[in-house]
Amino acid sequence: MDRLVIQGGHPLRGRIRVSGAKNAALPCLAAALLTEEPLVLSNLPAVADIRTMVKVLQALGTEASLEPHPDGFELTARLACAGSDDPKAPYDLVKTMRASILVLGPLLARFGRATVSLPGGCAIGARPVNLHLEALERMGALLEISHGYIHASVKGRLKAIDHTFEKVSVGATENILMAAALAEGTTVLRNAALEPEIGDLAQLLVEMGASIEGIGTGTLTITGVPQLHGCEHAVIADRIEAGTYLCAVAAACGDVVLDRCEPEHLRSLLDLLERSGCVITERDGQDGRQLRIQREEGQKLRSKDVTTLPFPGFPTDLQAQVMAVMTQACGISVINEGIFENRFQHAMELERLGANLRTDGHTAIIAGPAALTGCTVMATDLRASAALVIAGLVAKGETIVDRIYHLDRGYSGLEKKLQGAGARIERVGGGKV
Ligand code: UD1
Repeated sequence: MDRLVIQGGHPLRGRIRVSGAKNAALPCLAAALLTEEPLVLSNLPAVADIRTMVKVLQALGTEASLEPHPDGFELTARLACAGSDDPKAPYDLVKTMRASILVLGPLLARFGRATVSLPGGCAIGARPVNLHLEALERMGALLEISHGYIHASVKGRLKAIDHTFEKVSVGATENILMAAALAEGTTVLRNAALEPEIGDLAQLLVEMGASIEGIGTGTLTITGVPQLHGCEHAVIADRIEAGTYLCAVAAACGDVVLDRCEPEHLRSLLDLLERSGCVITERDGQDGRQLRIQREEGQKLRSKDVTTLPFPGFPTDLQAQVMAVMTQACGISVINEGIFENRFQHAMELERLGANLRTDGHTAIIAGPAALTGCTVMATDLRASAALVIAGLVAKGETIVDRIYHLDRGYSGLEKKLQGAGARIERVGGGKV
């Protein structure tokens, strides 16, 4: 099993290019199920979750290929889904990636039937799919859960609904948006999630011939069409990857320019880092917007409180990374996790590196600045792993981050990108450390 070995205590200087957004790419890949025509998706990050989703689509009768870009950080997918008589998303794939549930809406809408494994729990909490299932049932789907699988079918086409999500859910909004694109009539989805990745999916669906109004708002109006067609689409930049590198510089100091990012998707983090004392500048680059972050050595950080919320609030996917930053800030910082129930597993590992913090339920209290010192730490989930890498970049001496398969699910070339900014970080095979 690979590990990352980091020699910390050195500032980051240089440029990092941001890859395409994993969380936009996954629903866009699922949208390939909505048409028999070829769909070409570019700017996909070269990460394990993308390969898993492609395997899920192949299991469902999709011809799919993934071509790497020359730098190895991005992929282009060519997909064409003729379909299968008995579309089934198997447990072995779904258990490795919860986003596989996103195939349910498209399969039902196009083929009128689907069997999809229930995803089960995950490291950061229960993560049920009731919001997805309730809306599909209202659209006329018959759902039966047996032997760990959702067996779904519908007579004829799914029917349009006027539906208010009981809770804001990114995945449920995406699943029902795709289902509604091929449903009969005009669906109105209220209390829809506002995350930029949903805007990207909606944009792709429009390019495929869907009729969607209210993109970027909490009310999506979708007039179903009998069929959609193929197209070419480049997914948006990964705001969480960009945010992770911003946090790395905020914590470890330095001066880094991020190429090809979208500052509008990162306002809550940019505000927080500026209020903490980092200098952030935005400008147009050759291929998209650029963000520069500066925190010189010796420059103090101010502690700030953070509550994670649905977009445009502070993203839960940056909570762990910002906790690593706050270990270096002067004063007390209170972090409230407002989305997931069990998302502080990185806290104990940060403590092992010397962080001074306590957690109680959904709240973490961090007292800084702490003098971190390197040791071996264990990654527990994707974003927790990123927080440990950030802390490792700060810590004096050597930090070994174990179980980095979590990181490989969502970060394209993390250690190579950090090396490009001067970090002393290396990937080592499990047997060699
Ligand atoms: C997506 C992101 C994930 C991010 C999360 C919140 C992808 C592939 N993943 O996950 O990285 O952390 O949004 O921004 O895009 N809930 C229910 N019932 C449901 C669905 C969700 O109660 O049917 C709850 C969840 O347990 C959670 C909250 O709603 O407490 C938000 O979850 P949701 O927005 O659905 O997250 P995901 O789409 O799974």
